[in-house]
Amino acid sequence: MIHQGEYIRDILRGEVGKTVHAHGWVKTRRDSKGVSFVQLNDGSSFQDLQVVIEEGALPEEAMKQTTTGACVRVTGELVASPAAGQAVELKAKEILVYGGADPATYPLQKKGHTMEFLRDIAHLRTRSNTFGAVFRVRNALAHAIHNFYRERGFVYVHTPIITASDCEGAGAMFGVTTLDMMNLPRNDSGAVDYSKDFFGKPAYLTVSGQLNVEIFALSFTNVYTFGPTFRAENSNTPRHLSEFWMIEPEMAFCDLEGDMELAEAFLKYIIKYVMEACPDDLEFFNKRIDNTVLATLSQVVENNFEHVTYTEAIRLLEKSNRTWEFPVFWGADMQSEHERYLTEEVFKKPVIVTDYPKEIKAFYMRANDDGKTVRAMDVLAPRIGEIIGGSQREERYDVLLDKIRKQELNEEAYWWYLELRKYGSAPHAGFGLGFERVMLYLTGMKNIRDVIPFPRTPGSADF
Ligand code: 4AD
Ligand code: MG
Repeated sequence: MIHQGEYIRDILRGEVGKTVHAHGWVKTRRDSKGVSFVQLNDGSSFQDLQVVIEEGALPEEAMKQTTTGACVRVTGELVASPAAGQAVELKAKEILVYGGADPATYPLQKKGHTMEFLRDIAHLRTRSNTFGAVFRVRNALAHAIHNFYRERGFVYVHTPIITASDCEGAGAMFGVTTLDMMNLPRNDSGAVDYSKDFFGKPAYLTVSGQLNVEIFALSFTNVYTFGPTFRAENSNTPRHLSEFWMIEPEMAFCDLEGDMELAEAFLKYIIKYVMEACPDDLEFFNKRIDNTVLATLSQVVENNFEHVTYTEAIRLLEKSNRTWEFPVFWGADMQSEHERYLTEEVFKKPVIVTDYPKEIKAFYMRANDDGKTVRAMDVLAPRIGEIIGGSQREERYDVLLDKIRKQELNEEAYWWYLELRKYGSAPHAGFGLGFERVMLYLTGMKNIRDVIPFPRTPGSADF
């Protein structure tokens, strides 16, 4: 059997008089005198297909089972709809119930569920208006990303998920092992003997594909990777996931200015793309989730991003006369409250902060001549804070080796990364865009757990 019917999205645009087979899940059913109205949705569009069933037109047994949550196939004729907001509706002639849904226990009732409750039924929340819209937008966003890079001639690279090197040097990695936890092999000094482990050494889930994608940039010039990344930080916030998706472009013959240009063009492109691809879904978010979403998105597309150095940003924060939860001083890492102040109150638009102190940034960022800062850039967005983190990379062998040693990183693990600087090194730059952070921006959803199909966070890995 193959789905020979049409998507509801296409049926809604069909001609009056046409016979169609519609497949989908019943969102609601309303019975009035002599007629029943069933809202049918197959995920292909925000809008439901209204099925009109005249009393006695269909077998009683099938009608009994046609309740909220049931999966059905309806065959009938498209007729002009008197209802507002839809040109046609389906006059049912035949119904096949694939699977019923007991109204006494079906958890997804008409409305009024909290996001938390819906998270607990992630196997059914995908059928709700909100999550239908979220995951259609997510799909369009993924397409937008690939289109953007393909149009610019970037090569798409699949970087590994299991790795032996810590890209961010921050140690927030999940271990990957097949060792028996109850009976760990030990060496003479009592430490775990990883030579007995599956890969013969400690292995982890990657925090970023950057180090690998740099290899490809230094062969294919412009490249990107787009895949899942993992962070074992105990950050229980509405903006952090333990498993999230990241897009990481990397460009040879490119400095920080070029990197920032690409980041701005990229964000504008993908926002515009989704606005064109999913108008109904965004309309819904604007109406029901956050009524500033559409205005904010248009504003981002139409205006230039602001640029400030980290040093200037700290000065602005110090001048603000606010009491911060996290103290502000030169050298401090910026927290969400600071990022939001800059974007929402000072500049009222996305801001690119550059040249951070070297102590708070990763080892691979290019050292500035001042000896204190590195060629880093973070793109901060209103409501979200950091949405992109990037930098020009340190392409000088001696400088890089010195940094790895000073930060007491495992020099051996980075041998190949160092060799890239020994053989045909080139200036290069790149960044990472958090996929779910953009999703928050596009939808106005408040919690990052609600823009990924199956969220993984500290203490939670259901479904
Ligand atoms: O700033 P980050 O840690 O940068 C990197 O990983 C670099 N290697 C990227 C590069 O230059 N190629 O992460 C990049 C972005 C952040 O700006 C944020 O949007 C997102 O990834 N991100 C997270 N998203 C959700 N949950 C988390 N725990 C995240 N951590 C980072
Ligand atoms: Mg960052």
